[in-house]
Amino acid sequence: MTASQQAQEPVVKVVAIDGPAGTGKSTVAGLLADRVGATMLDTGAMYRAATLAVLRAGVDPSSEQVGTIVDAADIRLDVSGDDAPVVFLDGEDVSTQIRSDEVTAAVSAVSANPEVRRKLVQLQQAHADDEFLVVEGRDIGTVVFPNAALKVFLTATSQARAERRHRQNVESGRPSDLTEVLESVNRRDHLDSTRAVSPLRAADDAIVVDTSDLTLEQVLDRLTELVDERIGA
Ligand code: DC
Repeated sequence: MTASQQAQEPVVKVVAIDGPAGTGKSTVAGLLADRVGATMLDTGAMYRAATLAVLRAGVDPSSEQVGTIVDAADIRLDVSGDDAPVVFLDGEDVSTQIRSDEVTAAVSAVSANPEVRRKLVQLQQAHADDEFLVVEGRDIGTVVFPNAALKVFLTATSQARAERRHRQNVESGRPSDLTEVLESVNRRDHLDSTRAVSPLRAADDAIVVDTSDLTLEQVLDRLTELVDERIGA
């Protein structure tokens, strides 16, 4: 789409929240949606469900077959409830399985596949009929909803993000090594920002919010202010 075509499209009542892993995007997007009365769309959950389909098929996540497998998979996100969205793969609720270490390790490779991205972007855009959306991901402001009324790019230093992830692991009793977590954060950043299709980057008109030294409450207050300014309370 050219810049002039994009400018002609009507603004959609969408808050796009993009940024790398570990910036607190999911938590922030969920709580913000509650505060402003919007529906939250977690697009990472869709890429994770696609990855689970690939792993279940026993296929290498970097192979070309990935596109065919994901194309045949029925991936749905049920956002109608009050709680976290429920993710279905071929009719089965896989909301827990998609958070496994195996899926996390393979998801960057699967989400780099252009056929996978084409299919999931269409599924995400089909939610545009919903009244008011907070959508979180990597390419929401740049590709999925370039005409979102508000675009936010959440960032934090890789050290701050690794420390958060490490703390979450320790709190939930999972074995965790900070150096390894930092390496994994850096590896995913590199893969997500250097892939050929829809690399992670802030949209030119996104507001960049660095969360390294902010509490969750401070981030939410800032975003609520922006929603009030751009979309109205
Ligand atoms: O937000 P998350 O960690 O659940 O996302 C999982 C992976 O999916 C992440 O490594 C990048 C990818 N992803 C993407 O490529 N595009 C999106 N819109 C959302 C996630």
